[in-house]
Amino acid sequence: MTNHVPASFLTRANALFRKNLTYQKRNIWSNVRLIVIPFYLCLLLVGIQALFDKQVNNSADKRCGCQCIVTNEDGTCQRKSCGIQYSSQIQAFFCAFPKPPLLLPLLQIPRPESRSIDRARGSCRRTRSCPVTILVTGNNPSLGATLSRNLLSTSFTGNSSDIFLRNLAYNVLGTTSEADYTNYLDPGIHSDLPIFNIQPRCIPITNLSFSFRQSDLEFHKEVRCVQGLNLWRNNSIEINDEIFKGYRQGNHEEIINEIAAAYDLLDTDRNKFNVTIWYNSTYKGDLRDRRVKYVRVPRSVNLVSNAYLQFLQGSKTKILFDFVKEMPKQETRLRLEMASLIGPLFFTWVILLLFPVMLTSLVYEKQQRLRVIMKMHGLGDAPYWMVSYAYFLAISTLYVISLMIFGSAIGLKFFVFNDYSIQFVFYFLCINLQISIAFLVSSAFSEVETASVAAYIYVFGSGLLGGFLFQFLLEGLSFPRSWIFVMELYPGFSLYRGLYEFSQYAFKRNLNGSDGMKWKYFKDSALDEVFYIIIVEWFLTLIAAYYMDRLSSSARDPFLFLKKAFKKYPTPQKHSLQSQVSAVSIEMEKLDVIQEREKVEQLMLEPSTSHTIVCDNIKKVYPCTDGNPKKMAVRGLSLAVSSGECFGMLGPNGAGKTSFINMMTGLVKPTLGSAFVQGLDICNDMDKVYTSMGVCPQHDLLWETLTGKEHLLFYGRLKNLKGCDLNQAVEESLKRVNLFRGGVADKPAGKYSGGMKRRLSVAISLIGNPKVVYMDEPSTGLDPASRMNLWTVIKRAKKHTAIILTTHSMEEAEYLCDRLGIFVDGRLQCIGNPKELKGRYGGSYVFTMTTSSENEKDVEMLVQHVSPNAKKLYHIAGTQKFEIPKEEVRISEVFQAVEKAKSNFKVFAWGLADTTLEDVFIKVARTSQAFNVFS
Ligand SMILES: *[C@@H]1O[C@H](CO)[C@@H](O)[C@H](O)[C@H]1NC(C)=O
Ligand SMILES: *[C@@H]1O[C@H](CO)[C@@H](O)[C@H](O)[C@H]1NC(C)=O
Ligand SMILES: *[C@@H]1O[C@H](CO)[C@@H](O)[C@H](O)[C@H]1NC(C)=O
Ligand SMILES: *[C@@H]1O[C@H](CO)[C@@H](O)[C@H](O)[C@H]1NC(C)=O
Repeated sequence: MTNHVPASFLTRANALFRKNLTYQKRNIWSNVRLIVIPFYLCLLLVGIQALFDKQVNNSADKRCGCQCIVTNEDGTCQRKSCGIQYSSQIQAFFCAFPKPPLLLPLLQIPRPESRSIDRARGSCRRTRSCPVTILVTGNNPSLGATLSRNLLSTSFTGNSSDIFLRNLAYNVLGTTSEADYTNYLDPGIHSDLPIFNIQPRCIPITNLSFSFRQSDLEFHKEVRCVQGLNLWRNNSIEINDEIFKGYRQGNHEEIINEIAAAYDLLDTDRNKFNVTIWYNSTYKGDLRDRRVKYVRVPRSVNLVSNAYLQFLQGSKTKILFDFVKEMPKQETRLRLEMASLIGPLFFTWVILLLFPVMLTSLVYEKQQRLRVIMKMHGLGDAPYWMVSYAYFLAISTLYVISLMIFGSAIGLKFFVFNDYSIQFVFYFLCINLQISIAFLVSSAFSEVETASVAAYIYVFGSGLLGGFLFQFLLEGLSFPRSWIFVMELYPGFSLYRGLYEFSQYAFKRNLNGSDGMKWKYFKDSALDEVFYIIIVEWFLTLIAAYYMDRLSSSARDPFLFLKKAFKKYPTPQKHSLQSQVSAVSIEMEKLDVIQEREKVEQLMLEPSTSHTIVCDNIKKVYPCTDGNPKKMAVRGLSLAVSSGECFGMLGPNGAGKTSFINMMTGLVKPTLGSAFVQGLDICNDMDKVYTSMGVCPQHDLLWETLTGKEHLLFYGRLKNLKGCDLNQAVEESLKRVNLFRGGVADKPAGKYSGGMKRRLSVAISLIGNPKVVYMDEPSTGLDPASRMNLWTVIKRAKKHTAIILTTHSMEEAEYLCDRLGIFVDGRLQCIGNPKELKGRYGGSYVFTMTTSSENEKDVEMLVQHVSPNAKKLYHIAGTQKFEIPKEEVRISEVFQAVEKAKSNFKVFAWGLADTTLEDVFIKVARTSQAFNVFS
């Protein structure tokens, strides 16, 4: 029956696994709800998308304009026609262009207010009449001069009915408007801005208005003359310098000095045309998107080629540049997908949402001390970690899979357009990192509330910072890539980056049908760096979490090394404390306590197995906190308890009993001294001690949803009980604590009454026949019948076990304990078996007698006669109580005296009682406390 082989790793892991499985089965609905959350969130996203489609994607001004051509009699439209002729400027962009318009090749020129100022004519800015500057340089100045002359035409050619632009090509036309992303409708033509005809000299009447047709549109355009100035510069360095200085910087309007174009003719001669062209390529738009605005270069190339040709062939020869034309295009629709646009922010939240759940569950087990109690019953850290990790991983994996499935089913492009394998691997790595961070962070929290607040701040903070800071920096090209990498070391941002890449690829595929995210873009998209960061951090966090957990579970301060680093001089507290404490305690100790101390010292010298528990002068001092002086909870306790013995600890509240139990169960480390359980040091070998230890804590530590039977099965497995033995042991202990009948054992512990929980806790502490059992007030809150039951159980269990028990019930102490110690103010005041104690500290009888009030004097005389040293304890309305020293009387004398008295006056009732343990307790507690007050 007794089985003392400690359970193996697998057995313990299995026990925890099966317990958690039952636990989670009870919680199945909250688990299902958790997994279904992504579904609701995806629905929300679909709703937003629908709204967005209605308001933006399908709105009338985001599609080619239409008009009704044939109307029915009832006013409905029979046939409608769509095209740019019915469209506004914005709508036209979406129209079909089966025959794209011919566009004038325009030269980009600076706006009047920012044109380069000719030194001779400084006042042109005010009148907005500054010339458009073209700079020329080259190895051969005379050739340069000729070409410059040929660049611009001297007159305006063309008339207002020239619909084919033919004659306009003889002119050098320019615009100040910026080009668009596409070239179907050039803003230079389709805006209200005038077209400029660049001429060396403007004769007054060169401003004219003319109309021309493009596709189905007719345009009226004003053509204004602007002076073009060709300036020779000595070399390209001068030109660079001038352009550099002319560049617009912020708001410094005064120093703007922009030019239209510049040419370096290099070594051009009759046989060779070699030229460099400067043009302003500053564009707006997102480089990553490749959505680059058009740059007006072609005309500037044509200008210089034309000039060179005229230099070779004479002014009759011309290369005419009639028009530019786009490729034909279908009608397009705006297709912006919200899931891809707000996806990174949204899905960062969705995925991080599991973090608070895991963190609070870990902190909850810590706060409720469930983890500690499991540990005390032999569940090591490793199985706990493994099973918890596996559970979190399973639930998180289900969560992300359901996210992907729901997202795809609903048709979110974010999921559909990217390769599933790469998505899954990414999410899988992320949740693993998340779980290990939860483990790491949980050691820093001791309360569920603070932990969950912190976790939610992390979730929402990461999303918002990612969306509004990180993405901004990521898209801003000037931010160094190495700093982006550094930012990605923050787990929230690496998650954000991955989601961002997915959304970008999905967005682009939706917009123009390019590829979604695939493994072949792994490197290009910088996903590789994100993956590596996550993997490395995952391992590092796991190691760190393990280290922190070891530190905190060994009751050491996890930030000890930090504190050490900050504290320069080690304070010599410990030593002075030791001498102080021992000096005081020795001087006060009673004989029995000294004897016990000597016994322990003897045992320490020559170890024997006779005593299961040996405490050698252990002390616990709590350091001073916020102004409170340091508290000596236990001031040097020596005690030896053998197997089969039940040692009872009595003492007033706050005497240090619980501190003592906490030290013995490994919750806190003794400040000084040591204790041995079956020869194993509690400071170093606690893990081994746990395998043969049972604890019944003061407050029941139970899982609300697990039944009594399941609790016992779990702890039984931890104690290496298997198969039939296990079932038998569980059944027996249920029977013994009276929880077997009526299906009580199969009810969840949360539904138990206080007494039932207490009995279950005792049963748990005794299952698997532990060698040592600590019980902290096991019978509080029990009715007399259950209490009697419980006592029987404990008494039976005592046979092979050393039990240390604290209690406030003298009856319990007397019934159960072989020896008692009264513990006051951190110190044992006396020790011995109940009878001895009563004999030693009692030493008197209590005599009570009730008479009518006129006979009180007679009673006093009677007592005086029996014992001159008797003390009156109290008297109320004829009832009097006296304390009579034992050595002065014999019981028979008292009886005789009372018989005699009965014949003299009327005695209603009388009694003679031995001192009770309670009297002893009160006496000891009172005297030692009084002493301590004065000492
Ligand atoms: C305008 O140009 C057209 C086509 O080149 C030509 O036929 C017509 O004579 C011109 N009209 C004037 C007034 O120059
Ligand atoms: C350009 O070269 C000419 C002749 O060599 C010289 O007179 C002139 O000062 C130079 N201009 C500048 C700005 O250096
Ligand atoms: C080029 O164009 C940009 C945008 O219009 C302007 O800010 C900048 O000053 C121009 N640079 C030059 C050298 O003209
Ligand atoms: C054009 O000029 C540059 C600079 O002088 C020279 O390096 C290059 O070889 C020339 N190109 C040709 C085709 O001669």
